[in-house]
Amino acid sequence: MTNIAILGLGSMGSALAHCLIKAGHNVAVWNRTPGKSDAFTNLGARAAKTPDEAIAVSDFAIVCVKSHAQTVKIISDLTISIQGKMICDMSTGDTKDAEALVKILSAQGARYMLGMINAYPSGIGTDDATILTVGSAGSWLAYGPIIQTLAGRSACIGREPSALAAMFAGLFSVRQGFMFGMIYGAIVCEKAGVPMQVFSDQIPASLKLVHDYYGLFERSVPTERFANAEASMKVYALAQEDALKTFQSLDAPSEFMQLMYDNTKAAWDDGHGDQELTALVKTMAN
Ligand SMILES: NC(=O)c1ccc[n+]([C@@H]2O[C@H](COP(=O)([O-])OP(=O)(O)OC[C@H]3O[C@@H](n4cnc5c(N)ncnc54)[C@H](OP(=O)(O)O)[C@@H]3O)[C@@H](O)[C@H]2O)c1
Repeated sequence: MTNIAILGLGSMGSALAHCLIKAGHNVAVWNRTPGKSDAFTNLGARAAKTPDEAIAVSDFAIVCVKSHAQTVKIISDLTISIQGKMICDMSTGDTKDAEALVKILSAQGARYMLGMINAYPSGIGTDDATILTVGSAGSWLAYGPIIQTLAGRSACIGREPSALAAMFAGLFSVRQGFMFGMIYGAIVCEKAGVPMQVFSDQIPASLKLVHDYYGLFERSVPTERFANAEASMKVYALAQEDALKTFQSLDAPSEFMQLMYDNTKAAWDDGHGDQELTALVKTMAN
């Protein structure tokens, strides 16, 4: 049983607190707006009046507020010493704020973890949810099992705060790429008079191909094996060109397809036409 503080009782902080109380830890909770703690005191948690009080009684303090910038302010305003305390910020944030937070925690002698929650609050406490963390030496060893109670597939990916922000940006772009693909696809079909229900009904068949895309990515990108393509970059460029002409002729927004075509065609012109489309990871980075 560990003494844990949860600072921030929004949707996510509440889910974290519920899970850790259920797991049998000693939990102290704090929220900026009073009143949200009441639900947790009924479950046996201690309601702290200030962040100082919550952190003082804990060995492991988890912050889950709006973003890292608000956490920096909370930490800056503390009046107690946090020397040797483990502070884990699970709020979302960008690289600059993450680095500022680590700087201020390190300057005060605290140990740190930053966590990126890849789940909805309803997924907290399940085996297939993920929280990716970065942290100071020994932090995962000491507190990784608690993080895995919150999300079973959690893992530590290193020490650098920028790595976590990049993972967030990268994985978010994977999901949003699919979302925007559906949005642009819906518009071009609507312009051609295709009922949205018909378009929507056909998306699950494309999900199978998205899975195949992942298989190709997994086989080729980590190993940098881009030769012997089953469907080469040339083939994709020609299909993208056809799709682009359709978007344009129907007066549908075409910038998404244009972006794909421009990058694929540039790599083809550069001599990579016979390679896998995933070789763009290399050509576009240059
Ligand atoms: N919800 C999700 O599905 C999800 C998933 C992954 C990650 N996250 C991340 O988890 C964090 C919290 O999200 P949430 O869904 O819990 O948001 P939320 O329901 O809107 O709650 C926000 C929390 O932040 C607190 N807060 C805001 N500004 C503050 C400040 N200046 N000082 C102190 N506390 C402040 C709020 O306190 P008050 O009650 O006083 O307003 C509240 O407790 C965010 O960084 C979010 O990106 C959320």
